[in-house]
Amino acid sequence: MMLLSGGLLALASAATTVAAEAYTVPAKANPLGEPFDGFVSYSLEFSSFPEFAGNKSHPNTYSGNLLANLARLSTTPYIRVGGNTQDYALFDASQAAALVGVVDPSRSPDYPTTITIGPAYFESYATWPVLDVRFSHGFNMGLGGNRSAGWQTLLDTVPLACRALRDGDRLYTWEYGNEPDLFSTSAQGPVRPPTWDEATYVAQWLNATRHIRESVRRNCRGTAPPRFMAPSNAGVSNHLKASAMWSAGLNQDNDIELFSTHNYISGATSPGVTLQGTLMNHTKTMQSVDAHTKEYDAIFPGARAGGKSSTSSSKAPPLIFGETNSLYNQGKPGLSNSFGAALWGVDFNLYSASVGFKRVHMHQGTNYRYQAWQPVMTALDVVGTKAPYYGSVAVAAMVRPVKKKSSLVSISAITLGADSAEAAYAAHYHPVGRKSRDEARLARVMVINMHGYNTTVGGAGLEPLPNPPARTSRKYAFAVGGAGVRDGARVRVQRLLANGSDAITGITFDGWSYNWDLDRGKPVRLHNVTVGETVRVKGGQVSVDVPDSSAVLLSFGDC
Ligand SMILES: *[C@@H]1O[C@H](CO)[C@@H](O)[C@H](O)[C@H]1NC(C)=O
Ligand SMILES: *[C@@H]1O[C@H](CO)[C@@H](O)[C@H](O)[C@H]1NC(C)=O
Ligand SMILES: *[C@@H]1O[C@H](CO)[C@@H](O)[C@H](O)[C@H]1NC(C)=O
Ligand SMILES: *[C@@H]1O[C@H](CO)[C@@H](O)[C@H](O)[C@H]1NC(C)=O
Ligand SMILES: *[C@@H]1O[C@H](CO)[C@@H](O)[C@H](O)[C@H]1NC(C)=O
Ligand SMILES: *[C@@H]1O[C@H](CO)[C@@H](O)[C@H](O)[C@H]1NC(C)=O
Ligand SMILES: *[C@@H]1O[C@H](CO)[C@@H](O)[C@H](O)[C@H]1NC(C)=O
Repeated sequence: MMLLSGGLLALASAATTVAAEAYTVPAKANPLGEPFDGFVSYSLEFSSFPEFAGNKSHPNTYSGNLLANLARLSTTPYIRVGGNTQDYALFDASQAAALVGVVDPSRSPDYPTTITIGPAYFESYATWPVLDVRFSHGFNMGLGGNRSAGWQTLLDTVPLACRALRDGDRLYTWEYGNEPDLFSTSAQGPVRPPTWDEATYVAQWLNATRHIRESVRRNCRGTAPPRFMAPSNAGVSNHLKASAMWSAGLNQDNDIELFSTHNYISGATSPGVTLQGTLMNHTKTMQSVDAHTKEYDAIFPGARAGGKSSTSSSKAPPLIFGETNSLYNQGKPGLSNSFGAALWGVDFNLYSASVGFKRVHMHQGTNYRYQAWQPVMTALDVVGTKAPYYGSVAVAAMVRPVKKKSSLVSISAITLGADSAEAAYAAHYHPVGRKSRDEARLARVMVINMHGYNTTVGGAGLEPLPNPPARTSRKYAFAVGGAGVRDGARVRVQRLLANGSDAITGITFDGWSYNWDLDRGKPVRLHNVTVGETVRVKGGQVSVDVPDSSAVLLSFGDC
């Protein structure tokens, strides 16, 4: 294949493995796989929010550019402001600075665990006015239910948050507490005694959320009563369980609009973690995500396909990842910041969509190793767009509405063979005026080839290998006739590419770079990557070559 030029010419001489048979693309749309708008969303660490967003006099326009790219490619991301540090933040009305944080390396080297915010913190909600971004503000439950200053913080900040989010219609949803399932066992220091249980959690959550509702009613007249994402648990097998929270009456006020759960595939320092085995591994990704759908199904049987749960007369809150990323403890250099992690992100997001997750908030904070971008210059890192951002870009291109007025797409997994280093997905859409699933048409196919390929010394992404090995390219064929695509149909090919899975720079999607140094995150077309490739459907099939450690988006007709 001679499609790629420049440094990727090595592909021309690489071995190509031909798949034995064509994989069948589902004929119909997947009823579980219809994500919401803003499927590609972010969670910003509470203590890093002023850096990501800036303030009124110094808005962070670079972050704004990166969000605008995703909005243009599909729909505007939603921003959850929260994470571990939301449960450390106390309010000081007399503090001029937005946030003052003290890092205690024995608790965490990566974020402050002693935090005060001032009224200026809330300016950061107003820095991207043209973008139509909606936010959730994470209130402090950790200290809110632990000491009087924590409770006072809730009383003092609800009016500030509701005014900041009401102005310009910026409200997404509300959140009280981050990962309460870990409150009594947290590695960063427990904020509840060992007796902490679901019933106590529910009593405290109801008490505080009722105060929030009353305060919003008094201070933000005319706004709708607050609705929440909850319970924002860290996982499915910690000290407190979502199912017991639900049966203890968490949603007795009927104000939970999103069932939010958190996920990391593994930990930055967990033994045996590798790029290929842990992240570029579809089996591992499925196992990690499936644990959450299993938990959700046990609470809301039958609800994932939308509508009512079979055990409850009320509508089950839709399932989202309110916070997620590759490796907890802020990621591991050489893994979480690599192009391999971007490919993992594509697989993780699309698999999640295919099993019923409606939105995925990729988490990030300043200096974090899994961040999509570094928003400001610090002693530890320079401003820049990171590999995982390009994963978000590819997912946005896959899930974008086909036409302005058509419905959002529906994502389904395409069954491949037993190789855990590859995955493929289909996106169907409903042409305007045709609502039935049987009338859905195939819009796109994404193929993710996660076989590792290194071109730097030690796979560290820094120093190029003088003689990199040949890059294998694999041929994937898909039977699309059953999905209504006619022979001769033109198929657009867009590639997510980098030198290898170990690359940490030089990444493009469809030839576009969003790097800081080119145009502060605005799209720039690179000239060393070939674009404009097309193929045609022949004999009911479409086939495409996909180099190891890269992904391809196929778009049918004018989709
Ligand atoms: C990618 O590889 C080419 C050579 O094949 C090299 O010129 C280029 O600098 C590499 N890019 C990065 C970001 O390492
Ligand atoms: C706004 O941000 C700038 C740049 O970070 C900073 O110097 C200034 O103090 C901030 N203003 C407030 C009110 O925090
Ligand atoms: C507050 O947190 C401390 C640990 O910092 C814990 O020992 C104590 O039990 C907590 N108090 C309450 C009321 O939860
Ligand atoms: C709600 O929580 C606050 C702070 O812990 C406490 O003072 C108050 O008594 C609680 N109210 C109820 C009804 O439990
Ligand atoms: C991928 O993950 C599965 C499940 O954890 C594991 O059994 C398998 O060994 C992994 N594959 C590789 C190549 O490490
Ligand atoms: C890439 O480099 C990493 C780190 O040295 C290594 O573990 C991995 O096996 C290499 N992958 C390939 C495909 O050579
Ligand atoms: C293409 O150019 C960009 C920007 O100069 C560079 O980072 C990247 O490594 C180049 N890619 C190849 C394959 O040479």
